[in-house]
Amino acid sequence: MPPRSIWNGAIAFGAVNVPIKVFGAREDQTIHFHEVHLEDGGGIAHKLVNPSTGREIDSKKVVKGYPGVGMSGEAELAGQTVLVIGGSSGIGLETARRARKAGADVIITARNPNRVQRVGRELGASIAAFDATDFDRLERFFHHLPPIDHALVSGPSPFDAPLAELDVEEARREVDAHVVLPLQVGRHAAGRVRPAGSVLFMSGAGGRHPGPGFAFSSALTAALSAMTRNLALELAPIRVNVIAAGFVHTPRSAALLGDQLDARRQQLRTTLPIRRIVGSSDVAALAPTTSSG
Ligand SMILES: NC(=O)c1ccc[n+]([C@@H]2O[C@H](COP(=O)([O-])OP(=O)(O)OC[C@H]3O[C@@H](n4cnc5c(N)ncnc54)[C@H](OP(=O)(O)O)[C@@H]3O)[C@@H](O)[C@H]2O)c1
Repeated sequence: MPPRSIWNGAIAFGAVNVPIKVFGAREDQTIHFHEVHLEDGGGIAHKLVNPSTGREIDSKKVVKGYPGVGMSGEAELAGQTVLVIGGSSGIGLETARRARKAGADVIITARNPNRVQRVGRELGASIAAFDATDFDRLERFFHHLPPIDHALVSGPSPFDAPLAELDVEEARREVDAHVVLPLQVGRHAAGRVRPAGSVLFMSGAGGRHPGPGFAFSSALTAALSAMTRNLALELAPIRVNVIAAGFVHTPRSAALLGDQLDARRQQLRTTLPIRRIVGSSDVAALAPTTSSG
């Protein structure tokens, strides 16, 4: 006896009538259509893109996990490029080390060619030796720079001088280093930093507490802070931030304090809320957070 169909019917083609009987199938008989472009009927290819970098990624490198957390915690900047202006010492160097460890390609600049070469070899980083306040040179540097994801400016340090010792020519150079340099980096970043990237300026806490000898340096730090807020709006979606640190133990701060270093360290240990001396690695640890915030 033939099996019973689950549906009987017919399809009509003009005068021809085709009777139909439907039976349950043993296997999946689903017809899989391909996706085609409505305009020309051509096939469609899907790309995998990392939304934070905008870059295409290899499907073999895709795993399941929670977004934003590196699987090893060590490769969160893999495939990204970090530029550190002033990266051969102190906070800049520590940030470059951290970025390298997190998988980034790193480009370091500073004035002293021997030191920047040594650091470049240590980190396997690209290097360039020039004074960042030579703005023609800076422009040429950015002109030849490949697209980058993050830029940190940790170069020149402001100087404090009582009015009686203030040299006007030196003050003008300081304006170049602490006002015009960030402005120039912002200008060049617009064409070089990827939209999901960031620009970060290193500054100090000098502007917070007034005192004799701080008139000029406090004006510079206040200016950078105001400039950063405006650049952030002008360069969006690139993030622009400033870190205004207090005392950080680096070769520079050690050299500035000379034989008063230990006394200052002891004083800070007892007065700072953190009850210890802040080092370059503490600030470097903030850099990626600030760059992604
Ligand atoms: N250490 C602190 O207590 C402290 C506190 C608050 C803020 N900051 C700020 O953090 C930044 C870094 O300080 P740091 O203590 O890490 O200083 P650092 O150890 O002296 O390092 C400064 C880096 O910048 C480079 N640099 C200086 N002037 C430059 C220029 N004109 N062009 C290009 N590169 C230049 C230096 O190399 P070359 O000399 O070879 O150029 C070096 O690689 C400064 O802006 C500083 O004001 C520091």
